[in-house]
Amino acid sequence: MKYLLIALLLTTPIYAKTGKQLYKKCISCHGNKGQGRGTFPKLAGQHARYLVKQLKDIKSKKRKVPQMNSVVKKLTKEDMKSLAKYLQSLKGCK
Ligand code: HEC
Repeated sequence: MKYLLIALLLTTPIYAKTGKQLYKKCISCHGNKGQGRGTFPKLAGQHARYLVKQLKDIKSKKRKVPQMNSVVKKLTKEDMKSLAKYLQSLKGCK
């Protein structure tokens, strides 16, 4: 039990950091705070489960976002989860 808690404490910040690092590839379209711009949707504050589903669908081309093909094809399921957690933690803009 003790080890489980330590493991949780150790992995949480790492998750957030990798999400932030991975997000660098998305800034040019979705904005540095995930605020979106024009036709690029806002991602900040969006629910993580929803974001992961969209990323999976975009990768599998079930949802067609050709602009994102090159970035999304390199993402693993874990990457998607880290990104989604990071984006969910950002404050949504009004
Ligand atoms: C070249 C521009 C571009 C880049 C880079 C890009 N996106 Fe997108 N993304 C878009 C566009 C355009 C859409 C919306 C398409 C549409 O209207 O359906 C979108 C949609 C999304 C959606 C769905 C949002 C929703 O509310 O349904 C998610 C999630 C997303 N992007 C995440 C990411 C992540 C994470 C990255 C970085 C790994 C990224 N995008 C990089 C252009 C981009």
